Parts: sequence; structure tokens; C-alpha cells
Amino acid sequence: MGFSGSDATVIAAAVSEIARNIVDYAQHGAMTLQRVDEPGRNGILIVACDEGPGIPNVAEALQYGCASRRGLGVGLPGAKWLMDEFQITSKPGKGTTVTMRKWLER
Ligand SMILES: Nc1ncnc2c1ncn2[C@@H]1O[C@H](COP(=O)(O)OP(=O)(O)OP(=O)(O)O)[C@@H](O)[C@H]1O
Ligand SMILES: [Mg+2]
Repeated sequence: MGFSGSDATVIAAAVSEIARNIVDYAQHGAMTLQRVDEPGRNGILIVACDEGPGIPNVAEALQYGCASRRGLGVGLPGAKWLMDEFQITSKPGKGTTVTMRKWLER
């Protein structure tokens, strides 16, 4: 798509953290990566969804080193920081969807 090497590294790091959370907490799920072309900007849209246990307190899970962590607790806040746009919706018992975007610098 024309991302710089450093942007590609950043995107790969965010994808890896979110994918690892699916494996760790939901066991399986799906992730789609697609190109987005809008007037004036192009980028990549990544949507990760699972039907795992969900996150009871999303705001808390987005804090570095959150209390519920099993690892270091840097995956979600790190991915949010690395990407241009980042949203999580989660319902306990139903699952989690993470949507993130990175725009190409022009
Ligand atoms: N897909 C998911 N389903 C259920 N819970 C999740 C999911 N992703 C994250 N969580 C919850 O949010 C918390 C924070 O996630 P985050 O990736 O930031 O930290 P971590 O996985 O505990 O540690 P790290 O990623 O640094 O190894 C997790 O500990 C887990 O409780
Ligand atoms: Mg994690």
C-alpha cells in the first residue's frame, strides 16, 4: 500500500498484540485487514473480533499495567498508541471487537 518501513513495523506490532489477545483470552477469532480509500486519504482498516469472555471494564483494560492483566498489560494501550484510530467494543460473555486504522502519510 505504500506504508513506510517504520509504519509497516508499527502496524505489524499492533496486529500482533491484538491477535495474541485473541489467542490468550478468546482462543479463536478473526481479523480482517482492508484498504480504505476516502477522498483525501488512504489507509488500512483492521477489525479483530472474537466471541470470547469479553472485557468487563474496557477503560481499565486500556490503562498500562491494568489490574486484570495476565501479561504486562501493555498490549491494548500500546496498540492504541501505535495506531491513528482505535476502538474497542466488548460485551462480557459475548466477545470483543477491536477496530483500528492507520492512514498513509502524504
Ligand atoms: N480479546 C480479549 N478478550 C477478553 N479479554 C481481553 C481481550 N483482549 C484483552 N483482554 C483483557 O484486557 C487486558 C489487557 O490486555 P493487554 O493486551 O493490554 O494486556 P495483557 O494481555 O494482560 O498483557 P500483554 O499484552 O502486555 O502481554 C487483558 O489482561 C485481558 O484481561
Ligand atoms: Mg495482551
